[in-house]
Amino acid sequence: GAPITIAMLGCGTVGSEVVRLLTEQAADLTARVGRPLVVTGVAVRRPHRHPDVAPELLTTDAEALVDSGPDVVVEVIGGIEPARGLLLRALKSGTSVVTANKALLAEYGPELYAAADASGADLYFEASVAGAIPLLRPLRESLAGDRIARVMGIVNGTTNYVLSAMDATGAGYAETLDEAGRLGYAEADPTADVDGFDAAAKAAILASLAFHTRVRAEDVHREGISGLRAADVAAARTLGRTVKLLAICERVVDGTGTESVSVRVHPAMIPRQHPLASVGGAFNAVFVEAEAAGQLMFYGQGAGGAQTASAVLGDVVAVARNRVAGGRGPRESAYAELPVRPMGQT
Ligand code: HSE
Repeated sequence: GAPITIAMLGCGTVGSEVVRLLTEQAADLTARVGRPLVVTGVAVRRPHRHPDVAPELLTTDAEALVDSGPDVVVEVIGGIEPARGLLLRALKSGTSVVTANKALLAEYGPELYAAADASGADLYFEASVAGAIPLLRPLRESLAGDRIARVMGIVNGTTNYVLSAMDATGAGYAETLDEAGRLGYAEADPTADVDGFDAAAKAAILASLAFHTRVRAEDVHREGISGLRAADVAAARTLGRTVKLLAICERVVDGTGTESVSVRVHPAMIPRQHPLASVGGAFNAVFVEAEAAGQLMFYGQGAGGAQTASAVLGDVVAVARNRVAGGRGPRESAYAELPVRPMGQT
């Protein structure tokens, strides 16, 4: 059949890995989808910086690339604009979207879901939370018949690396963060990680899917790790505990029987025998508790170019299969509208 056409927006660490895999695994992917997957363009700011991409694919005009009407747009630019405008444009014209953009989903998810549902396009974003770990598709699809009570875990690798190292060495926060930066485990500007913004955006996405409601990053009660001292970690240790930055999304019922959703990110002292205590380095791990399924745990690498590319490519294959079948994936704009508890009421 006719190829499934793919337009790439952005071509950094993740994007270039996606383009490479699409090319190298073309035969396998064609067999899995039933039609060839063909990249028709790659929008970048500075084409000369991408010698690995065939020059005829490179363009600086992302809008024109979206308007060329590909089957799928893959967005790996990050940030709110121009990503938001470009993806709304794509979705409105019926082009399916695969994105790794957690900040965008955490703030404008409902707007994007509505645009996708209005045109019948797909919107997949597995790579936006916990990198390679299959987590959003289990929440959206595998557990769609169950009732989720809680999603809780470690969703930020940088802070987990720092906390694990502080626990192991007894060193202070600032020197451990410096060391993590030197070793490449922390960004040059680690603010979004250490102050919990990254985890809060991921928690907002997880809570929205788990509870079929609208949770935005700003609704999440957020406390980072920059206030932690070596003495706090040592105190936890003497209590048989360790400190982890947790994202917690729960269904709660108040005294009057009214249900709401509580979403928060904060450091927590957890018993050393708890499965989350042994999650070390830059790994992520998330518990999901559902009424019928019981407890589930998802564990793996939450960041990295190849890992994130794996999640993006899985979404591309899913979206392409939906196209071939003439159908589409799950809709998210039909919300149960469970209220989100205001900060401080947890
Ligand atoms: N900075 C993030 C982390 C990368 O440390 O987990 C993945 O979103």
